[in-house]
Amino acid sequence: MSDQPKPGPYSGDVVRPAGVVAFGEAPDPVPPLTPALLRRGQERFHIYCTPCHSELGDGNGMIVQRGFPSPPSYHIDRLRAAPPRHFVDVITNGYGVMYSFAYRVAPADRWAIAAYIKALQRSQHARPEEIPPDQRQALR
Ligand code: HEC
Repeated sequence: MSDQPKPGPYSGDVVRPAGVVAFGEAPDPVPPLTPALLRRGQERFHIYCTPCHSELGDGNGMIVQRGFPSPPSYHIDRLRAAPPRHFVDVITNGYGVMYSFAYRVAPADRWAIAAYIKALQRSQHARPEEIPPDQRQALR
C-alpha cells in the first residue's frame, strides 16, 4: 500500500516555471552577452573568485599567497579554449580542491562570471590589430 508509485513533489518530473533550475543544473538558455551582464560578472568575480584567482586571473590571489593550493592561470591555452559552460560547471560543481559555489552564486550569475572571465582572458591576449586605429595611437 505505502509503496504505490505516484508522483510526489520530489519525484523529479515536476513542471518548473521557465528560468527555474534545480540545484546543480546549468540554466538554459545562455543569457545574451551584454555590458550589463559583464558588469554583473565582474562584480561577482571580485567578490567570490579574486581571493584565490586574483584580479588578473593568474591564480595568485591573497588566499593562495597565504598557503591555499594555487589554481591554474585562466590564461593557459586549455582554459582559454574552454567554453563559458566549463566555467559555469566549475562554479556549480567545484573542481579538484576548489569547492562548489552553487550555494553562493545564483545560476544566472554563474553565466555572468563566465562571460567576464572570457573577457578577462581576451584582455590579456589582444593583438595590436584588434585595437581600433585611433586608440592604437594612444598606446604608443
Ligand atoms: C579558495 C580559493 C578559490 C576560490 C575562492 C575560487 N577558486 Fe577556482 N580554483 C581554486 C583552485 C585551488 C583550483 C585548482 C583545483 C585543482 O586543480 O585541484 C581552481 C580551479 C579553477 C578553475 C580551473 C578548472 C580547470 O579546468 O582546470 C576555474 C575555471 C575556476 N577555478 C573558477 C573559479 C571561479 C569562477 C571562482 C569564483 C566563483 C573560483 N574559481 C573561486 C581555488 C579557488
